[in-house]
Order: sequence, then structure tokens, then C-alpha cells
Amino acid sequence: MSAASTAPTALITGITGQDGSYLADLLLGKGYVVHGVVRRTSSLDRSRLGHLYADPAIYGQRLFLHYADLDDPTPLRRLLAKIAPDEIYHLAGQSHVGLSFEIAESTCDLTAMGTLRLLEMIRDLPKPPRLFHASSSELFGQPAVAPQTEATPWVPVSPYGAAKAFATRMVTIYRQTYGLHACNGILFNHESPRRGENFVTRKICRAAASIKLGLQKKLSLGNLDALRDWGYAPDYVRGMWLTLQQAEADDYVFATGELHSVRDLAAQAFAAVDLDWEPYVEVNPAFFRPAEAANLVGDPSRARQRLGWTPSRTFGEIIAEMTQSEYAALAKSA
Ligand code: NAP
Ligand code: GDD
Repeated sequence: MSAASTAPTALITGITGQDGSYLADLLLGKGYVVHGVVRRTSSLDRSRLGHLYADPAIYGQRLFLHYADLDDPTPLRRLLAKIAPDEIYHLAGQSHVGLSFEIAESTCDLTAMGTLRLLEMIRDLPKPPRLFHASSSELFGQPAVAPQTEATPWVPVSPYGAAKAFATRMVTIYRQTYGLHACNGILFNHESPRRGENFVTRKICRAAASIKLGLQKKLSLGNLDALRDWGYAPDYVRGMWLTLQQAEADDYVFATGELHSVRDLAAQAFAAVDLDWEPYVEVNPAFFRPAEAANLVGDPSRARQRLGWTPSRTFGEIIAEMTQSEYAALAKSA
């Protein structure tokens, strides 16, 4: 029997995203066979997985990609029966909160109903795999208490947050009702050089590097006073894996417990390239949201105590790494 056939098998939805790509790295490093679900797009440029495609010992040997979609259950049902994964990490979703006000129906269909469809498929399997669901601090919306824990009441204020609330609750219902080993990670913001370009950390770090290189003059932002609990994405995917290794399924908050403003973020990113941020930043109301989550800061005590999980990087280190990574990439292509 080959090593691969005795290795644990994981399926990742959303493998092409920031978290999916780091999770694939982590699981492959632990000897897993990894299957990723991808949607059909006109471009095959899946740059976050480029380093894995390029490795002939990985791609097609221990990493496999499959076309399937959460609004078309049959291919996914077939895939689950064929590969019989031990663990599923459900990360696929329209992950931009601001955009969820513009495309509310498709956001909710994928995030809320897509998760329910997956739960229904898992429930029918003869040996149901363990499931990790990427839930979000957007559940809490505008909470009355801070920091938030697994027990804090939910008051979502965006279509995205409401869809995650539905999906999160369904995961709990299926755990309690059908005995599935299904877990929610209530993930606060987490960032990295692989972050999507329209999230505020990457947008600011990229602009700081671009302005330093003389490629851009100004940076337009929305609410500079917005506060978030920003952590490091590779830490959060480690939390996902740890969650599924526990004998008992449960939900966990993953957060740093520290708040910073968009203003602080801009100051840190521009400082990383020896610039003062204020002359370059302008406020554009187009980037304000119809409703804004507030006071989102997490208490990761349960994850620390039960999983031994702690964040590995400070806010300043994350922003410096992201800005330096942008600078190196832009300088190379300039
Ligand atoms: P991301 O970089 O935006 O990746 C999202 C993934 O979902 C991508 O693989 C994307 O595929 C896929 N996807 C998007 N729309 C889809 C659709 N209609 N059908 C099928 N797949 C679709 O997000 P991320 O930062 O890695 O986050 C992963 C998950 O964690 C998301 O569910 C997000 O909501 C949740 N989360 C993230 C954070 C955070 O701070 N990063 C915090 C809390 C929760 P394409 O590559 O084809 O677009
Ligand atoms: N994107 C963006 N662009 N946000 C801006 C801008 C801008 O130009 N200017 C200010 N902001 C503010 C937003 O209003 C928000 O308060 C904050 O910066 C962070 O915005 P994002 O980076 O878009 O992240 P998010 O907090 O809305 O959502 C992220 O974190 C959630 C967890 O709380 C996403 O990763 C979600 O998928 C995730 O669930």
C-alpha cells in the first residue's frame, strides 16, 4: 500500500482563497492527501496555489482539484462518495462584507444555503467526515459586550453577517441533532500577503509600497476610524486544523484580543516604507458601508486553553511583512 493511500484525506472548499491556500500548505506539510473544490472560471490563474502546481511531487500526487459548486449538489455529492474524506474544511464564500450589500442574494445563497447543502450531503454519508466551517466575527455585528466569546449574542448588521449566522447555527444544529463532528471557527479578521486586494489591509499596504516607488499618488479609503482585531492568516488555518483534531466537536473564537483602527494601519504601513501616511490618504464616501460592524474584538481563551492556540505575530509585524512583500513584487515588475 502506498503512503498516500494510508494518509489522512481532507477536502477544502475555497482552496484558491487566502485561507484555503495556507491550509493546503499546512495539510500537505502534515502528510495529508488534499482535494480542493474549485469553481469554473475563464482564467486558470490560481496564483495562490502556484507554488504547489509547480511541484511535481505534490500536484496530481497529493493535491487534486475538482470542479464543483455549492449551488449544484450532484457533483459534490459524487466527489464526497468517491474520495471519502476524513476532514472537510468549508471555506468557500463571497467574503467581502461591503460587497455583500450590493450582491446580497448570491452572497446569502452561497454562504447560508451552500453550507446547509453541504451539511445535508455529509449527513447522508455512511461515515460522515469531520467538518470545519469558517464562520466570522461579523456574526456579532454591533455587540453590547467586548471582547466577544463563543457565548456572546449575535447581532449581524450585514447580509454577509446574517448569512454566516444562518450557516453557523445550522452547523450547531446538525452537530446536536445528527451527531456530526461539525465545528465553527468564529474567525476575526486575519491577513497576509495572500489577502485579496480589496480588503483594507492589502489595499493600504499595496498603496504604501506603490507610492514609495512613485507608481501611485493617492490612496482613497472609507472609514478611517473603523476598528478591527487583525491577526495573521497562517495562525488561523492552524486553528482550523487544531479544531478538527479534538475528540469532541465544539466552536472556537480565533482572535488576537487587540483592536487597531484603519488610521493606525495606514500609519504602520507607510512607516514600513519610511513615509508619513497623512499627505497621501484621502477619504472617499464611496468606500463607506450602509451599516458597519463595530466593537469587534475577540477573546480566544477557549482556543488557548483547549487547543493551545496563540497568535504568532503582532499587528506591526503583519503589516510590515505585507508592505515589504508588496514593495518587493512591485519593484520587480516596475
Ligand atoms: P477569500 O480569499 O475571498 O477566498 C474565498 C474562497 O471562496 C475562494 O476560493 C473563492 O474562489 C471561493 N468562492 C467565492 N465565491 C464563490 C462561489 N460563488 N462559488 C464557489 N466558490 C466561491 O477568503 P478567505 O479570506 O480565504 O476566507 C475564507 C473563508 O473564511 C470565507 O468563507 C470567509 O468568509 C471566512 N472568513 C474569513 C476571514 C478573514 O479575515 N480572512 C474572517 C472570518 C471569516 P475563487 O478563487 O474562484 O474566487
Ligand atoms: N475593504 C475596505 N476598503 N475597507 C475599508 C476601506 C476601504 O477602502 N476603508 C475603510 N475600510 C474599513 C471597513 O469599513 C471595515 O470597517 C474595515 O476597514 C475592514 O474592512 P475589510 O478589510 O473589508 O474587512 P471586514 O472586516 O469588512 O471583513 C473581513 O473580516 C471579516 C471578519 O470580521 C473579511 O475577511 C470577512 O470575510 C470576515 O468575515
